[in-house]
Amino acid sequence: MEIIVKTNDHSVSRSAAEIIARVIREKPNCVLGLATGSTPIGTYKELARMHKEEGLDFSKVVTFNLDEYLGIGLALDKSYKEDQSYARFMYEELFRHINIKPENTHVPNGLAKDPDTFCKAYEAAIQAAGGIDLQLLGIGGDGHVAFNEPGTLFDSRTHVQLLTEKTRQDNYKAFFQPAGIDWEHMPKQALTMGVGTILEAKEWLMIATGANKAEIVKQTLEGEVSPRVTASAIQIFTRKATVILDKKAAARLQYRR
Ligand code: PGA
Repeated sequence: MEIIVKTNDHSVSRSAAEIIARVIREKPNCVLGLATGSTPIGTYKELARMHKEEGLDFSKVVTFNLDEYLGIGLALDKSYKEDQSYARFMYEELFRHINIKPENTHVPNGLAKDPDTFCKAYEAAIQAAGGIDLQLLGIGGDGHVAFNEPGTLFDSRTHVQLLTEKTRQDNYKAFFQPAGIDWEHMPKQALTMGVGTILEAKEWLMIATGANKAEIVKQTLEGEVSPRVTASAIQIFTRKATVILDKKAAARLQYRR
């Protein structure tokens, strides 16, 4: 695992986007695992800039997103007005700015009639695409990777996940405004790739920024490897893993480059 500490979150976004761009240039039809949340927004902005100004070509790229809220997803061609789905997030923050083919993008379907069957199909689709070449990851305030909340086993596959109160509170703030939603309508469950699914990716790119992540970053990278902090699975990931942090998120680390 390589840990890179940057001065600010803008530099984190630039470095993360450079790694993603490197994978796309080496393998134009690569399969990217993508993340949502506030942390990757800058990375997506930078990728959009690289597409516009440097011709970074997404025409053959295939993407699979980590997770989606259960009950609020909408297909990409529907009205987004009231939609707080990660499908919409991806469209707004990245997909509409680049030349990716909509049929090559995959976000778990939060409106699936039979979520368990959908989860199995999502796993099969990742396999059929040849597996994930590069997986972008954030770290949740409670140490989750994707929506794998504390206690989720490292061999878990794509599944329906009950969200912790902390995750619901953290993510409530990030919902699209001004439409927003009432707290009581904030989803309690999500569909998420399992830790086992993520561990099969060929490469990990984990990013975290801000002082509020310093303690969980320390637990993730230097603490006990435990399902209590599912992001700590990075310590048993045997392939290439790059962690990019800003100074604030790295503040409590003992070892850093
Ligand atoms: P955040 O979420 O980027 O909004 O902090 C990270 C995560 O939940 O993985």
